[in-house]
Amino acid sequence: MNIEFTEEHIAVRDAARDFAQNVLKPGVIERDEKQKFPTEEIKQLGELGFLGMMVDPKYGGGGMDTISYVLAMEEISKVDASCSVVMSVNNSLFCWGVEKYGTEEQKQKYLVPCAKGEKIGAFCLSEPEAGSDATSQRTTAIDKGDYYILNGTKNWITNGGSSSFCIVIAQTNPELGHKGINAFIVEKGMEGFIVGAKENKMGIRASDTHTLMFNDVKVPKANRIGEDGFGFKFAMSVLSGGRIGIASQALGIASGAYELALAYSKEREAFGTPICNHQAIAFKLADMATEIEASRLLCLKAAWLKDQKQNFDKEGAMAKVFASKTAMWVTTEAVQVHGGYGFVKEYHVERMMRDAKITQIYEGTTEVQKIVISRAVLK
Ligand code: CAA
Repeated sequence: MNIEFTEEHIAVRDAARDFAQNVLKPGVIERDEKQKFPTEEIKQLGELGFLGMMVDPKYGGGGMDTISYVLAMEEISKVDASCSVVMSVNNSLFCWGVEKYGTEEQKQKYLVPCAKGEKIGAFCLSEPEAGSDATSQRTTAIDKGDYYILNGTKNWITNGGSSSFCIVIAQTNPELGHKGINAFIVEKGMEGFIVGAKENKMGIRASDTHTLMFNDVKVPKANRIGEDGFGFKFAMSVLSGGRIGIASQALGIASGAYELALAYSKEREAFGTPICNHQAIAFKLADMATEIEASRLLCLKAAWLKDQKQNFDKEGAMAKVFASKTAMWVTTEAVQVHGGYGFVKEYHVERMMRDAKITQIYEGTTEVQKIVISRAVLK
């Protein structure tokens, strides 16, 4: 693996860092507390090219590689994981999926505005009774010739309220199992498409997570992605790429909390010396730095494999398992280093601890990642 950063990588990382520190940081506590979607911040993120980073410039994207994406995701997530999940879902699950598997017509109509950041995309797979077990889709798409009739409910959909276009996974032929599943691009405003209430979440509270309902929605056949029955493989492939984004989000949450703990430990004195001089704190910081570096290398390895057009399913899953566990552990320890201050909102680390948890759940739980990894190592 060659991960020597180019000048472009460093420029992307610095631009993302600058945006996160100067634009996102000032309002992040308020947005979390009020569950306020970062509308203006996301608009600016789009204008800077961060919402369609890896999309070919001919479709309005930035034409960057996945390494750049990991670097940018880390910087944005260090400050605001609610913002970075919008970025991750739009880049990895929507844009990448449509660019890789969509028709030219779908790319012009749906990819271009999402890659430019003018519109936002969502990915709808999870249902009240189908999250990890993705083949058990209850949402149905009945083939009516030129169109499908879509019925069902999707839960915990990131960008559920803010998106204009949603990729919806649905069952067309239940007797065929996963080969009977299709993926569709469904537009907000189509008759029968209802956006349910926003979830009141523990973490990433400024992102908008909704239940979406489809009541006899008429979806043109031209909106199906791939051949009939390709929907499950489409979802698996897209989620595999998405896991690099969420692993990088976890990495960013961990490194953001670590940087705050490091700085605080140099300022705060106890027993006549800054607390970083006590081995109990110094060793904690050493362990944090080590786990974060290992997470970063796993993210970059998966990204590098993707850029080399090699299979990265196992490495993406490994990155997600390790980085999300690291995020949970580092943020908890960062609160500990801050003592009582860590428990109050002004010091940021309590939010990071709450935000970290979702990285072990969405885009495939830790347990799902271990299915993917164990199948690969046992093959
Ligand atoms: N790329 C392409 N095809 C793939 C693939 C991949 N990465 N992984 C599997 N497939 C193919 C297989 O080759 C197989 O095809 P054949 O039958 O032709 O051989 C087919 O898909 C079925 O594969 P499996 O037998 O492995 O399927 P499974 O049912 O055993 O999968 C599982 C098990 C890995 C747990 C899978 O169900 C899974 O990943 N579940 C988790 C889903 C998930 O991530 N949910 C989160 C919701 S989305 C979200 O959170 C978005 C958000 O808003 C943030």
